[in-house]
Amino acid sequence: MATKVIVQIPGEADYAVRIGSGVIGKLGQNLREIERFARARDVLVITDSNVGPLYLAKVKASLANAGFKAADVAVPAGEDTKAVDVAAEIWSAMAQLSFGRDCLVVALGGGVVGDLAGFVASTYMRGVPVVQVPTTLLAMVDSSVGGKTAVNLPEGKNLVGTFFQPSFVCADTDTLETLPEREWRCGCAEVAKSAVIDSDDFFFWLLEHAEAMAARDADVAAEAIQRCVVFKAGVVAQDKTESAGVRECLNYGHTLGHAIEACTGYGTFSHGAAVAEGMRFAVRLAASVLGDAQGAVAEFAEAQGDLLDTLGLPPLDYEAAPRDLLAAMKHDKKNRGGEVRFVLARDIATWEITPVSDETILQALAS
Ligand code: NAD
Ligand code: GLY
Repeated sequence: MATKVIVQIPGEADYAVRIGSGVIGKLGQNLREIERFARARDVLVITDSNVGPLYLAKVKASLANAGFKAADVAVPAGEDTKAVDVAAEIWSAMAQLSFGRDCLVVALGGGVVGDLAGFVASTYMRGVPVVQVPTTLLAMVDSSVGGKTAVNLPEGKNLVGTFFQPSFVCADTDTLETLPEREWRCGCAEVAKSAVIDSDDFFFWLLEHAEAMAARDADVAAEAIQRCVVFKAGVVAQDKTESAGVRECLNYGHTLGHAIEACTGYGTFSHGAAVAEGMRFAVRLAASVLGDAQGAVAEFAEAQGDLLDTLGLPPLDYEAAPRDLLAAMKHDKKNRGGEVRFVLARDIATWEITPVSDETILQALAS
């Protein structure tokens, strides 16, 4: 069964996120039901070298059945593809196809394809619509919604990009069947992050269903995706451009997580494993910065630890010097005035974004 979440962001057109088994089959039809696509014809499907062979034919068939004329481009899978030269090749391909302002871009893949395609769409002819068809759990629960697009620079990740909301999101849970286990767990870390930041209701639901989630139960995954999309839509509605001190909450666990990835070498640990470690650290840091006289933070740390363990995200055994981790955290583009900003959680749905001194961070890392 498919479900639909409507994302409503002030100053933007509302858009639907359709979640469920087989929803790619209705992609073309669903797009035709959107007024601005009633007479659209040219579509560029951007995918990657892993996802294309699995799902491109289905997407193109669905588009063709609804009268769209779809071309496609498959970029190499992997983070290196989020680069301005790859974007430039796609802009050129669109120009050579004589695509005008009435075309649309479909992003078929994980967050890499979603971010790249969103960036290409938001800049080609000053902006043509993008439709997200996420195929990783991470992309379904996080990156396909909310409108952040990006490419990387040699100097750092996601340094160039736009805020550009998609016109439609089609999350076909059948595609998750082929997702490698490591990528599944990356998505689980983002689900856990959302549940902790969101509410008791989401957290305890996830705790109850964590074993099923780890075992990739399709119904549980679909509900988790829906809950994450509702949560993220609510956050983005309050702070579309991450300038009101709200959207940064989505960075929970990522400050140390990114530093671990940088210090241990990208790929040594998965992004999800590093984020889970960052979530554990953010609670320890909360206790030291905000205090824990009643032991409530320790109790929450245990519950969060149980959740992460059950999702297959155990504590990491890694070696990195605290000073190196701190130096890596200093590169976080969310910092202000040289201080590292953390999302600290004292309890479920009880968090704050606060600068933390180098000394406090080093002490917490050393312990
Ligand atoms: P990814 O896009 O690299 O996908 C992971 C791997 O899985 C790739 O090798 C891909 O080819 C493969 N894959 C994808 N779907 C598959 C499927 N159904 N079956 C088999 N293989 C499949 O990684 P990701 O984790 O989806 O996304 C990470 C990216 O997302 C990063 O660049 C990150 O910066 C970005 N991101 C963006 C936002 C945002 O709000 N825009 C949020 C979080 C992350
Ligand atoms: N994933 C972080 C954001 O969308 O803000």
